[in-house]
This record gives sequence, structure tokens and C-alpha cells, in this order.
Amino acid sequence: MDFLRITQSPKLQGEVQISGAKNSALPILTSTLLSKNPLKIHNLPNVADVNTLLKLLGILGAEHEKFSANHIYIDTSGVKETKATYDIVRKMRASILVLGPLLARFGHCEVSLPGGCAIGARPVDLHIKAMEKMGAEIVIENGYIVAKAPSGLKGANIVFDKITVTGTENVLMAAALAKGKTTIINAAKEPEVVQLCEILQEGGVQIVGIGSSELEITGSDGELLDMKDIKVIADRIEAGTYLCAGAITNSCITLKSLIPHHLQAVIEKLEEIGFGFEIGEDSLKLLPAKKLQAFEVRTAEYPAFPTDMQAQFMALAMQCEGVSSIEERLFENRFMHVSELQRLGANITLRGNIASVSGGAELKGADVMATDLRASSALVLAGLIAQGETNIHRIYHLDRGYEKLEDKLISLGAKVERLREE
Ligand code: EPZ
Repeated sequence: MDFLRITQSPKLQGEVQISGAKNSALPILTSTLLSKNPLKIHNLPNVADVNTLLKLLGILGAEHEKFSANHIYIDTSGVKETKATYDIVRKMRASILVLGPLLARFGHCEVSLPGGCAIGARPVDLHIKAMEKMGAEIVIENGYIVAKAPSGLKGANIVFDKITVTGTENVLMAAALAKGKTTIINAAKEPEVVQLCEILQEGGVQIVGIGSSELEITGSDGELLDMKDIKVIADRIEAGTYLCAGAITNSCITLKSLIPHHLQAVIEKLEEIGFGFEIGEDSLKLLPAKKLQAFEVRTAEYPAFPTDMQAQFMALAMQCEGVSSIEERLFENRFMHVSELQRLGANITLRGNIASVSGGAELKGADVMATDLRASSALVLAGLIAQGETNIHRIYHLDRGYEKLEDKLISLGAKVERLREE
């Protein structure tokens, strides 16, 4: 297995290109099951989760061709199989995103329950309840969601008890082919959900309320969509992670090919800590801080501070003067990075879902273990400032969501190498 060796790095400098958003690419890929015609997808991030989903779609019968690592042509007209098996779903829980489109197009499907992951139980009860509201008969058998809607799905009023990103996306895709109108109350508003709405709308689906928490979708009553070629939006979490790499080393770096507006909450928090910005149309320049102030942050749904940036800010808090407080409100176990950061010397105390980080502790490189995608990015950031060498193991977690991570960090001047365990 590979591991990353990170040596305490000098200030970073230069530019980094942001890739397409993993969390937009995944629903976009499953939405192609709704398309009557093949289509091109541009700016697709070449990360493990996207390649796993392409493998699943291939098993179902879809065909795709790669023009380059980031541009594909996909044709789902040959899809006949509607069973998403455990061996694939367990590797990538967002495979649950085939539930809505398969059910809407074929009237039946079997999708392995994704099961939990390091950050929490990750139930899909809200997805299932919504599909049942739209007329599906669903039973859970031998760890599979077995769903049937022989006479097709019908529009319904869906009120989500909790805001769920992939839950909203599954209902959007199911409603696109349903008979009649579907309303979603308490819908997720993440930019990735907005892009899915936009591509369905370009495919002929009438959607009202895009970007709001109340969506109204008029379905095509089983008619497949005339979907157009797609360019995946930039990855705001990858961008936020590189901002934290610049911030933790108090450097001046520039991010290119991103959408600054999607990072409002992260930019505001970094300004509060002491950083400045030069904001361009699709670029963002981080200006170093005179002093890094401790901060308070609590994670919440978009447009508030994203849970996917919580671990990275915990690493940054180690450099801030004073005691920072970080409250995780979405997931019940998203502090797996704490014990690993403590191995480097971090001074962090946990009280329930609140972490207090005393900045200024001396950090010494050590062997640490990645546990989930964003926790592992926090370890990379910490490795940039810890004395000596930090070896990060199980970096397959990183490869799930960060394209060419070490190349991009090296281009900014970081000392990073990917090695193989003996
Ligand atoms: C999406 O996960 C993202 N993944 C996650 O990013 C992100 O952390 C999360 O949204 C929150 O922003 C993708 O988009 C592929 P949720 P998702 O359903 O949709 C509870 C990353 O690092 N819930 O919005 O699975 C759930 O337990 C990943 O890129 C239910 O109770 O998250 C959680 O507490 C990690 N029942 C809350 O809702 C359900 O049926 C939000 O979960 C569904 C969710």
C-alpha cells in the first residue's frame, strides 16, 4: 500500500488548478441513466470514487469512453441490469445515487444498503421514505433495498425531516421521470444539488425553486430526457483544502478555475482568523495573516460552514493563537482525525461534538493513519508544519476525493512524496 511522506515545508507559493467537484460528478453520472441519448461530461475529477461509480454503471450495462482523464462520453442506452451489488456499494456509499434513477427508469431495482462509514451510521431512511411516498414498494432483504414501482413513480409532496444532500438528489432524479408534480420541502441547497437541477432542467425537466429549500419538479411521465453535454463545477471542498494548506503555512498562494462564491463561509472564517483575499471571477488569492487568531466554527448545511471543511480547520486551529472551538453538527463521529493530530502533538480536548484546540503546541512528525477522506486531508496539512517527517498511511482515503494531491502540493513548494510500504 502507498503512504505519503510529508516533510516540514517552507512557505508555499504559486498557483494550483482546482478540479471538478467529486460530489457533483457522482449524481451527474447516475443522472445519465435518465438520458435517452449519450452525452459528454467535461471536467470530471479523476478520483477513485468517480472511477468506482463508472465501474458500477458499466456493470449495469452503461458504456463510456475516456477522451482524457477528465473528459468522458457515456451511453446508458444499453443498461438492463438494475442490481447494485454489495461489493461495489460498500466501497463507495454514494452508489445509493443509482436508487432514484434506476427506479424511475425501470420500475424496479436492488441496491445494497451502503452501511455506515468512519464518520457515522449514514442511514438512508429518508431516501427510502421518499421513494415510498412516490409510489414505490420497498423491502429490505439480505442487506439490499429491493424497490418496485411497476406502474411507475408518481409525483408527491416530500418533506425531509433532515436536510440530506444525496437524499435530495435521489428524489430529484426520481421525480424527473415521475408522473405529475413532486415538491421537496427542506431540500438541500448545496451547489452540487443546484448543478443537478440545472442539468435536469436542460434535459427538459421543469424545476421551480432551484437553489432554494423548496423545489417543485414536473416529471416527464416515463419519457427519457434529452440530456445535454455537461461541465462539472469546480470542487469547493478541494479548493477550501488548498486554502487551508496556504493558511496553515501562512503563505500567499492563488487558486485557479474555481467558483469563489461557493466558498463564502470558508473565506469569511479565514478573514476572521486574519487572512486577506483577492477575489477574481474564477480565481482566489490568499494573502498571509499578520497573526492567526483563534476562531469558533460550527458546521451546518450550505451556505453555512461545511462539515467537509471541519477537519481541515481543526489542523489550521493548531497554528492559531488562543483556543479555537469547532462544533460538528451533521455527523456523530466526524472527529477521527483528533487522535491522529494528537499523535503529532496537537492540544485538542473533546466534549461531545465540540473540539477545543489550543494553538501553538509544538508539532513533531510521526506515523499517522488516515481514517476518512477529509480527516486524511487534515493530516496532510498538519504534516506541512510538523517538525521532521510525517508518514500518512491508508491514503486510499485521500485518493477517493483529491485528484493529483501530491503533484499539486509539490507545485506549491511542499515537500511531499508518495512511497510504497515495504
Ligand atoms: C453528502 O453526503 C456528501 N457526499 C458528504 O461529503 C457531505 O459530508 C454530506 O453530504 C453533508 O454535506 C456526497 O455528496 C457524495 P446527508 P450525504 O445525507 O448525502 C443524516 C465528502 O467528504 N441522514 O446530507 O450522505 C445523515 O446521517 C462526503 O465528500 C439521515 O438521517 O449526507 C447526516 O447526519 C463525506 N437519513 C445528515 O443527515 C438519511 O436518509 C446529512 O447527511 C440521509 C441522511
